[in-house]
Amino acid sequence: MRIGILTGGGDAPGLNGIIEAASRTLIQLGHSVVGIRDGFEGIFARRTFDLTSDFVEGAHASAGTILGTSNKSTTQGREAEFLESLKSLKLDGLIACGGDGTFSALRKFQGEVPLLGVPKTIDNDLSGTEITFGFDTACTVVAESIEALRATADAHRRIICVEAMGRTAGWLALGGGLAGYADVILIPERPMSWQVLVDFVKSKKVAGRRGLLVCVSEAAHLQGQAPKVAFHVAGSPQSERYGGIAEKLARELESATQWEARHVVLGHLQRSRFPSTTDRFLTLAMGVEVARMAHEGTWGQAVVYRAGSVQRAPIQDLMGPVRTVPADHRWVQLAQSLGILI
Ligand code: F6P
Repeated sequence: MRIGILTGGGDAPGLNGIIEAASRTLIQLGHSVVGIRDGFEGIFARRTFDLTSDFVEGAHASAGTILGTSNKSTTQGREAEFLESLKSLKLDGLIACGGDGTFSALRKFQGEVPLLGVPKTIDNDLSGTEITFGFDTACTVVAESIEALRATADAHRRIICVEAMGRTAGWLALGGGLAGYADVILIPERPMSWQVLVDFVKSKKVAGRRGLLVCVSEAAHLQGQAPKVAFHVAGSPQSERYGGIAEKLARELESATQWEARHVVLGHLQRSRFPSTTDRFLTLAMGVEVARMAHEGTWGQAVVYRAGSVQRAPIQDLMGPVRTVPADHRWVQLAQSLGILI
C-alpha cells in the first residue's frame, strides 16, 4: 500500500517520533510511505515526498515536524477541492496526526477517505485520550522555568507571574505549576476571586517570603472576567490566540500588595523542546500501533492512551468537545495539599 502521513495544527514535541516509528514499521511491512507537507496545505497544493528509511531514521529525537504543519488552513468551504486533491495523491490510506482543529476538519470526509488518527497537542485537551504526546515535554519546560525563576524572584524579592499555553484548558499550567511547586496556579476552569488571591499573596509577604511564583494559564481569568484574547488568526479553525494575563496580573498584584512584580511568557518555548523520554515512549508505541492498523486495514480508528496503555478507538472519539480539567481533579487536590493556591 501507499500510506500518506500528515501533521496538522500546532507542532508538539514527539511528532517526529510518530513519523519515524510509523514509517519504519510500514516500510518493514512492505508498504511505501508518503509525507504530506504542511498539513492540509500539502494536500491542496499536492506537495508530497517519499518518506524513506534513510530520511526518517533519527528524526524521533528532534522537536518540530519534518513534514511541516499549519494551524491556519481549513477544509471549510473547500470540501470538494480537498477531496479531489486527496484522491489525486492515490493513497491507500491517510494517517493524520493532529489536534481538535485537524479532526474537526476531517470529520466530514470520514466515509470517503481511509483514515487513521493520532492525537497530538501540548494542551492535552483532546477528547477520547487521557494524554497527548508533547504534553509531558511542555510540562517540563513550565516546571523547569518556574524552578529557575524562583532564584531571581528570591534574589530581588519579587513576584513573578509565569504564563503557560493551553488555550481554554488548564492542564499545562496545572501540570507544570504543580511539578515546579509554584505558589499559585490559575487555570481557566477555576476562575479565582481577586480578594482571595490578594489576601494569599499578602499573607506570604507578611510571613517573610522573598519571592513568589504564580503559574497562570493563558486563558485563565478572575471571577467575573473573561479570558484575555490577544489577537485572532484569520483562517485558523480556532482563531483566538490568548495572552497577556501574566502581565496584567503582575501589574495589578504589585499595586495591590506593594510587592514588586514581573512577568514571563513562556510562549513557543513550550513547543520547541526535544521530546522527553515519556513522550518518546508514547510516540513510538503509538507510531508502531497506527502502522499496524494501516497494515490490517482497520480504517476509521485512532490510537489513544487509556488506562495506562496505547489502545485503538473509533476516530470520532477524538472529535468531541475540548477535555478540560475537572474541578476536583486529583492534581488540584495534590496542589491544595501542598498549600498551593488554586
Ligand atoms: O494548541 C497549541 C497551542 O500552542 C496553544 O497552547 C496556543 O494557544 C496556540 O497553540 C498558539 O498558536 P500559534 O502557534 O498559532 O501561536
